[in-house]
Amino acid sequence: MAAPLNICVLGGTGFVGSELVAHWARDGHWLTLPTRNPAREQDLRLFPTVRLLRADIHDPQVLESLVDGMDVVVNLVGILNENGRNTFQKVHADLAAKVVAAMRARQVRRLLHMSALGADRNGPSRYLRSKGEAEEHIRAAAQDLDFTFFRPSVIFGPGDSLTNRFAGLLRLSHGWMPLARSQARFTPIYVGEVVAAFACALRERATFGQTYELGGPQVVTLEELVRLCAQVAGLPCHIVRLPDALGRLQAAVLGLLPGKPMTLDNFRSLTRDSVCGTDGCTQLGLQPHRLLDIMPTYLGTRARPLRFASYP
Ligand SMILES: NC(=O)c1ccc[n+]([C@@H]2O[C@H](COP(=O)([O-])OP(=O)(O)OC[C@H]3O[C@@H](n4cnc5c(N)ncnc54)[C@H](OP(=O)(O)O)[C@@H]3O)[C@@H](O)[C@H]2O)c1
Repeated sequence: MAAPLNICVLGGTGFVGSELVAHWARDGHWLTLPTRNPAREQDLRLFPTVRLLRADIHDPQVLESLVDGMDVVVNLVGILNENGRNTFQKVHADLAAKVVAAMRARQVRRLLHMSALGADRNGPSRYLRSKGEAEEHIRAAAQDLDFTFFRPSVIFGPGDSLTNRFAGLLRLSHGWMPLARSQARFTPIYVGEVVAAFACALRERATFGQTYELGGPQVVTLEELVRLCAQVAGLPCHIVRLPDALGRLQAAVLGLLPGKPMTLDNFRSLTRDSVCGTDGCTQLGLQPHRLLDIMPTYLGTRARPLRFASYP
């Protein structure tokens, strides 16, 4: 087995991060996970090689000390909605620039960076523009960094906030769902494959400087995805397709509710299909699962969702 690495995972406590950390903990790597709230992460404490610590990663000095001595830095930090001072600009673009500066200062070269399909400085939403700007900050440091970008479509799996949320909403509304951008298209990818993509890239020099678009084998519309969630969860499903004017209004209203189930910025992201143009999974030697291979294991009526499935 290859020697264990010291890896700092920013955003390692999230949906993708915790699965990735479990996978790398199994392989014996030493993982440093800064978080805003270590007390919330009792499950991750079970891994003997995982160190959770409270840290403000937006403070350049704190970030420098976190990356010091690391073999690899992983940036998974991301938000879908802005909240107070946590803007897309701060959490995506500015943080990426700070990560670059910290790695340069401590001469750490290897960076695995989570972007998103459609990331583009000129994209339709602030989310996609800030993800595009983050990539630009990192690309501009190509001389000093060995970076790899991952651009997934929507990610599903136990604990996701996509299929679980649709199932939850359908349950609450007895199957009725007014849906904006119902024909927007996606290539949903299983979180296990996203983890495998990061794991492939960990030591593989051929991935340096590359961008991998990650999508599953199926292209589905938003409406088809909701119907699949209903089917798997054994729920009724009555979708009301909203024209864009009503969809925008719905997003504006939902964006005012606690938890912001949908916002105008989400609506704008949906105006661009989240479908891969290149096949990053094949490039990395992965064969992604179909939705129905996985969803029944955590959404089905007899499902017993397993967190950290990759940890023995
Ligand atoms: N899930 C998807 O469908 C999807 C699709 C495309 C791209 N992505 C990208 O993949 C990455 C991971 O997504 P995910 O679904 O795992 O997200 P998640 O479950 O929401 O986790 C987000 C992580 O980011 C950290 N974080 C959030 N806001 C922060 C802030 N203001 N300051 C510091 N840390 C902050 C959280 O850390 P603490 O709360 O512990 O501090 C947490 O570890 C993100 O970059 C996301 O944009 C996700």
